[in-house]
Amino acid sequence: HTRVPLIAGNWKLNLDHLQAIALVQKLDWTLKDGKHDYADAEVAIFPPFTDLRSVQTIVAADKLKLAYGAQDLSQHDSGAYTGEISGAFLAKLDCRYVLVGHSERRTLHNETDEVVQAKTAAAVRHGLVPVICIGETAEDLEEHGPSAVPVAQLKAAIDGLAPDADIVVAYEPVWAIGSGQAATPDQAQQVAAALRSTLAEVLGDEAAQRTRILYGGSVKASNIAGFMREPDVDGALVGGASLLADEFAGIARFS
Ligand code: G3H
Repeated sequence: HTRVPLIAGNWKLNLDHLQAIALVQKLDWTLKDGKHDYADAEVAIFPPFTDLRSVQTIVAADKLKLAYGAQDLSQHDSGAYTGEISGAFLAKLDCRYVLVGHSERRTLHNETDEVVQAKTAAAVRHGLVPVICIGETAEDLEEHGPSAVPVAQLKAAIDGLAPDADIVVAYEPVWAIGSGQAATPDQAQQVAAALRSTLAEVLGDEAAQRTRILYGGSVKASNIAGFMREPDVDGALVGGASLLADEFAGIARFS
């Protein structure tokens, strides 16, 4: 890979800010393995909003090589949007990344392709790197084949972006999320290659070569190596296994 791999941990609705501090410390220690530096991957965590200030403080104070971001942001910058969090707020907390369009946001919070596009644009506007989450359901797969739905979701999300926009794409088949039933490396590669072609088509070759495409869905330390061997898979978006320091550190070492 010429692209620096990214191993991202989505904590979802788990761990309050005190538990977050404990896991960040344990994770840093485990990643360093007592003596070594981090693996050859960039490691990022996505804790709940209320943890981010604590994560910022500990990462800065201990000079941790850990990136972090939020699990969502508002498409709006300010105003009468009760309960929303703006990209500007996240940027002030030194977030590098933000997830957009996670399948749980799409299904449980009715986020449409239009909303995901607006959130992607908002992230870029505030200097955050959006991790654009896309993926087909089991029914989509049966009806449209492996790549059609993820490709259409990606096209919608990146519509209007400048070619030099810094983005990450996370391909997460909905049927593989939290199911223990990961896609095969071959399946992930097939869709990742189609997504890279889409990036080339919409944003140009340079963007397609530079942009990292992650696989997500039941990734564990025991199956990460197979995904990392694929030419178009540049890392993973990890849910459940990111809550366990040993398991997540294992994933970050691709073993
Ligand atoms: O954002 C992470 C994905 O939803 C994957 O979750 O690793 O628990 O299957 P999982």
